[in-house]
Formats: sequence, C-alpha cells, structure tokens
Amino acid sequence: MTNLHLLHRPRRLRKNSIVRNMVAETHLSKDMLMYPYFVMKGKGIQNPIAAMPGIDHFSPDTLVRDIEPLLKRGINKILLFGVGDTKSDMADSAYNDNSAVPTALRLLKATFGNDLYVATDVCVCAYTTHGHCGVLAHDHILNDESVVLLGKMALTHAQAGADMVAPSDMMDGRVGHIRHVLDNAGYSETALMAYSIKYASAYYGPFREAADSAPQKGDRKGYQMDFRNPNESMREAMLDENEGADVLMVKPALAYLDIIHQLRQQTHLPVACYNVSGEYSMLKLAAQHQLINEQNLVMENMYAFARAGANIIITYHAKDIVLQEWL
Ligand code: PBG
Ligand code: ZN
Repeated sequence: MTNLHLLHRPRRLRKNSIVRNMVAETHLSKDMLMYPYFVMKGKGIQNPIAAMPGIDHFSPDTLVRDIEPLLKRGINKILLFGVGDTKSDMADSAYNDNSAVPTALRLLKATFGNDLYVATDVCVCAYTTHGHCGVLAHDHILNDESVVLLGKMALTHAQAGADMVAPSDMMDGRVGHIRHVLDNAGYSETALMAYSIKYASAYYGPFREAADSAPQKGDRKGYQMDFRNPNESMREAMLDENEGADVLMVKPALAYLDIIHQLRQQTHLPVACYNVSGEYSMLKLAAQHQLINEQNLVMENMYAFARAGANIIITYHAKDIVLQEWL
C-alpha cells in the first residue's frame, strides 16, 4: 500500500454520512420555508400555471384543501398573491375587501386559525391596467400617491386577518407609511416583511404570466433596484429597517447570494430570500428533461441560501420538499 504520510487528510471527516452530518456547518429546517400561493375568486378552481410546472391558481376553497397536507408535513407559513381581480388605473380592487386575497384570508383564518401563518404580498401591479407597481402619470410612477394605495392595501389585508404584510413595490417610504397606517388602525401586531433589496430582474418572467402583472409599456427599472449596486442595496435595506420593517428580504436569491451574505452581516433583523419564479421554472424544466436530479439540485440550492445567511427561504419548491420528504 502506498502511504504518502500526509498529516492532513480532510477525507477522514467525509467517510460516511454520520461523520459528514456531525461536521456539517449549515442546517436547514422546515421552519425556514415559506410557500407562495396564487389565489383568485371563485369556487372549485385549481388551474395549472403553464409557466410554472407544479404551481396552480386556486380559489379560496381549494386553497384550504391544498394546504392541509402541507400543514401536516410542517409547512405552516404561506405568502399569498391575488390574481384575476378587476384592473383599473388606480388599482381600486387592490384594497377592495371582496377581492381574492382578503376573501381567502378570512376563510384561511376561519379554518386554520393560528396554526397557519399567512403573509400577503402588497403591490398593485396585478390590479393596475398598465401593470406597473404604482400610480402612472405620463410614463412616470408617482411615488407618494403609490405609497398611499399600498397603505390602504396593507390595511385591508390586516383587517382580513393577515399575520404579516410584505410590500414588494419598491416605492420610497412605503415601509414607514404602512407601519404608520397599521398602527393607527390598531394593527400594531401585524408584522411587516419588506422586499428590501428587490432587483429589476428577468427572473420574474414566469410570475408575471401567473399573476398577469407584466407592465404593458416600459420596465420596472425606475423603482426596482439596479443589480450592479451592492452599496445602494445595503442603503435600501437600512432605510427599511429604520422605517420599522420586521424582516428584510433579498430577491431574487440564486444570483444574489453575495447580497444575502452581506445583508446578514449588516443587520440584526431576520433576513429572508425569495427563490423566484424564473429560478424555479428553469430548474423544473431541466428536471423534466432529465438534465439534472431535481431533489439534489433543489436541496443544494436551499443549503446555498442558508449558508449565505438567509433565515427565511420563500420558495415554490417547499411543497415538493415536504411532500417528498427531501428534508
Ligand atoms: C409584485 C411581485 C413580483 C414578484 C413578487 N411580487 C413581480 C414583479 O415585481 O414583477 C416576483 C415573484 C416571482 O418571480 O416569483 N411586485
Ligand atoms: Zn408590483
């Protein structure tokens, strides 16, 4: 037998899964996972979203049915997106109590109470005719007018039972305004997760099909962030922290692990990352073509988010992870 008489043999700690698990530096738990859902008004609806294999549009009743097995397997946090409500220039249905999200919130809370933690996305792009995340005036998104709408929308969700509101619009000052509106109306216990560092990203493509929220004209670069700017990103996140955010989010996740890591060093708040639609669909399509092993790739990504410093992972893979017992 050849023996090189090496002092250091790192492979000794890779001998089998017992020792590998003993020295593992990163741990994942279902407690970290939040699962997004698309909800629309109606009954008995479960329509597959073509751009996102495995993800459906649900009506409130079928949503309740779909969540039950997830809850049993330990997914008890969801993020709700409303689709299919009436669109108008001023996004009136975004804060209409009878739109999809408040309707679903009431049913979810009546059914599951505090066993299910429900967060809601707060943004008007699925409710505006032009598809932008705010009030449009001559090709410009008006900041403060948009923030007022977001405050109304967040309050509507809080009144319908949301545990957490999550503004995803990227207007200036919206975190402070929403916090103020909620507190004034007696909802000081409703938590706020800010999409703090949200980039103008091509990774949202499948979502915009799912939510029918693509801008009719132009892009979102006037409000979402420039992915070339890590310093500006930290500044945005610190503003949200100072305005009273409870959780800071980075979005997308996979191409932004450096940003997740940097934010984890900068704040004492929990850091969330959003593993977005484009990241999900690319992986799903590759798996359908047998180019990669789905379970292994999904879990490699989840550990990458945790290793980078994410405390909360919002992911469309959460359902597969728990139902197929990957974790
Ligand atoms: C709404 C919103 C978007 C996403 C979350 N909230 C789309 C966008 O900003 O265009 C993207 C989520 C995903 O891609 O999975 N502002
Ligand atoms: Zn939006």
